[in-house]
Amino acid sequence: MEQTLIILKPDAVQRRLIGKILQRFEDKGLRIAAMKFMRISRPLAERHYEVHKGKPFYPGLIEYITSGPVIVMVLAGPQIVAVTRKMMGKTFGFEAEPGTIRGDFGISRTLNLVHGSDAPETAQKEISLYFSKDEMVEFAMCDEPWSIQKENV
Ligand code: CDP
Ligand code: MG
Repeated sequence: MEQTLIILKPDAVQRRLIGKILQRFEDKGLRIAAMKFMRISRPLAERHYEVHKGKPFYPGLIEYITSGPVIVMVLAGPQIVAVTRKMMGKTFGFEAEPGTIRGDFGISRTLNLVHGSDAPETAQKEISLYFSKDEMVEFAMCDEPWSIQKENV
């Protein structure tokens, strides 16, 4: 099953939105494959956002993502990267469609509540930054036969 790395960023934690955001992912029928509550260190943030180094928003982004604790998780499911990106909405809250996480809960450019990997290959790289192999939990959800059709997902 495809995997993605999702982070509920410091503003989601501080604004007590963990439950509401997680509920959306649960409602969609996705499986949690790993999860932790942690504070992202500056070196880890710099590795995660390496592709943005040198961009004008980079210093503010590193400041923001290290400013308080976050929930980091691996979600698994069919087309999970595309599905979660759609659920998150466009990067800036003021552009994100209503009905998306960023569209419903925020209006900021930087403080946009949630991170989600942008491709399956990026996801694997990001997952390895946050989780060791033995932190990944292998199991099946009891409703999978009713929510995921094996032959054509
Ligand atoms: O998170 P997403 O993949 O949608 O966007 P990104 O282009 O990979 O940017 C990573 C993060 O940097 C965003 O989620 C924003 O928090 C922040 N950002 C920003 O503060 N200002 C920008 N002009 C672009 C991104
Ligand atoms: Mg990105």
